[in-house]
Amino acid sequence: MHKISSNSLFVGKNIIHLPKCHSTNTLAAELLSWGNVQEGTIIVADHQTAGRGQRGSTWESEPGLNLTFSLILKPTFLAPNEQFFLTIVSSLAVQAVIRAETSSCKVKWPNDLYAGERKICGMLIENTVRGSRIDSAVIGIGLNVNQQAFTNPGAVSLRQLTGQVYDLSRLLDLLAQQLEAKYLLLKAGGHSQLKSAYLENLFGLGTERDFEDAEGVFRGKINGVTGQGQLLIEKTSGQLCTYAFKQVRFLHP
Ligand code: BTN
Repeated sequence: MHKISSNSLFVGKNIIHLPKCHSTNTLAAELLSWGNVQEGTIIVADHQTAGRGQRGSTWESEPGLNLTFSLILKPTFLAPNEQFFLTIVSSLAVQAVIRAETSSCKVKWPNDLYAGERKICGMLIENTVRGSRIDSAVIGIGLNVNQQAFTNPGAVSLRQLTGQVYDLSRLLDLLAQQLEAKYLLLKAGGHSQLKSAYLENLFGLGTERDFEDAEGVFRGKINGVTGQGQLLIEKTSGQLCTYAFKQVRFLHP
């Protein structure tokens, strides 16, 4: 049973904790479609049987060892072309919680959290747009916490990094506080402050590495991110390229 003991105003005030479900994001979307779901509701599952990842992939997590949850927001103050700010808010919130445990954590564009070259958290953010506003958002977060081994060598958990065993409820509480604080900052118009913080914490900013786009493998360095969340990479040839999600892949450093 997870309980949010923090002083949060609305994030996590309503927690739906399930021992098992298909996907917390799918369930959150279902709840939204039935209407009458309170903003800030968190659905957390000990075990997802069909956890969804980005690019249509699946999200694997050993039951009971990690955090897999979805937060429902109603950011009607945002226009569809400001969706990326929800990515910024969520990434920075999770990063702040990880950073308190281990200093090496960066945001890998657009919204993965990396410790060194290994992924510790993935997010699936699904928005519903109505007219010129974002009607609702489901922020799905998979944070590797106490799992000690992964089949994917590119994954890592907090426990592997620090040697500690974590209380999942306490971490969820901290995440709720951070998510609320950053979301309220956005609501209050803190766009440029959030964007600067995102860039300061961006994995690979200004460092040369290999990437792959539709034209093949190339070397370059990340220059920044556009207001709508596209990645800017300067190729070693000097060409500045703009990429939407899925148009570029990070390869070796
Ligand atoms: C990724 O990096 O591919 C995104 C992973 C997102 C996983 C989380 S776990 C909780 C929520 N429910 C889902 O089905 N997916 C997200």
